[in-house]
Amino acid sequence: MTITTAVFDAYGTLFDVAAAARQAAGEPGREAFAERWSEVARDWRLKQLQYTWLRAVQDAHCDFWEVTQDGLDWAMEAAGLGGDAELRERLLALYWELSAYPEVPQMLSDLKARGLNTAILSNGSPDMLEGAVRSAGVEALLDAVLSVEDVGVFKPARVVYDLVGKRFGCAPDEVLFVSSNGWDAAAAVQYGFATAWVNRAGEPVDRLPWTPHHILQDLFGIPGLV
Ligand code: LAC
Repeated sequence: MTITTAVFDAYGTLFDVAAAARQAAGEPGREAFAERWSEVARDWRLKQLQYTWLRAVQDAHCDFWEVTQDGLDWAMEAAGLGGDAELRERLLALYWELSAYPEVPQMLSDLKARGLNTAILSNGSPDMLEGAVRSAGVEALLDAVLSVEDVGVFKPARVVYDLVGKRFGCAPDEVLFVSSNGWDAAAAVQYGFATAWVNRAGEPVDRLPWTPHHILQDLFGIPGLV
């Protein structure tokens, strides 16, 4: 089936989730944090995601901003930085303007030039996604920004992936779904999307029953897949 629609996960795929901690670590007066920022960034992301999965299976949805704050609180306490309210506020503020990976604008332009629909499908709340898309300057290159808030449950619930067909009227096998999260890519394969896993960190493939159709190190190769 011809691919008509390219759909991207947001956090970690188009936007660099470690950018907030990396940037704060470079600011004056943050020497203690500079020694531990990568550990905080890793735990922050890990806890944020764990909380989405647990809330999804326990039918206890909240928005992504809440799990983002809860994950950061866990990570800061684990690093012995739990009392630093100013650092917490700074990291949260930076999360609203995460930088996009450098190849993102050109890659989206190439997809638009080939006549594809382009979209984000993310756990992010609409206001968080709007902030990230605006600060990356890619609004004009996206036809839709789809949020799980429309269905009230986080990925990988199937109703989240249903949002793509509802918006574009396309069949699953007309969609190229792109995610940096191995579990999200696996779920998209099960759903029936053609799927690319962007594995920047060179991680092992997740031991799940569904294997991504394409594995790339970055987003440069995406237009070549359609
Ligand atoms: C998202 C998270 C999973 O954007 O990265 O949906």
